[in-house]
Amino acid sequence: MPNSDPRKINVLLVHMAGGMLILAMMVIRFTARMWTAKPPTATTGNPLLDRITPVIHYGFYILVVLMAGTGFGTAILARLNEIVFAGSGEPLPPTLKIYPTRVAHGYIALFLLGFIILHVAAALYHQFVRKDGLFRRMSFGRSESN
Ligand code: HEM
Repeated sequence: MPNSDPRKINVLLVHMAGGMLILAMMVIRFTARMWTAKPPTATTGNPLLDRITPVIHYGFYILVVLMAGTGFGTAILARLNEIVFAGSGEPLPPTLKIYPTRVAHGYIALFLLGFIILHVAAALYHQFVRKDGLFRRMSFGRSESN
């Protein structure tokens, strides 16, 4: 959506608030993950894949922090805090792609998308190929601790 579109400020408002909410939820999740019992590791049956698994899992936290960081960076550089949140009435700059943080935000989003696709594929593999009941341990409720 071009920045000249009158709906753009509202779209940015929802996007930025949503991005901050995702960051907050990831912080809560990480804290809960550190302080509560963990179920035993779910093996894929392949040692290489088992070694990649924690890289992807911890990589999610890093990517979300980078997404939020570059989002905040762009917002500050383009004064979006004033324009979007404080309703200053200033126009948006013609494009946000002049900011390196905005360009990085787009590339990191592609990495995050790749991680999400891998994660969904891995969860389906566990559930339907290995039939190890992974969906049950991913949902809320008691987990057996190791
Ligand atoms: C996990 C959280 C987030 C995700 C997944 C996400 C995702 C995205 C994606 C996919 C784009 C478009 C990229 C492109 O077209 O190249 C984008 C643009 C943008 N995001 Fe985020 N974002 C997140 C958090 C944030 C936060 C926290 C802020 C600011 C506080 C923010 C500010 C922006 C801005 C200013 C743009 C540029 C819009 C434009 O150029 O028109 N994002 N974001």
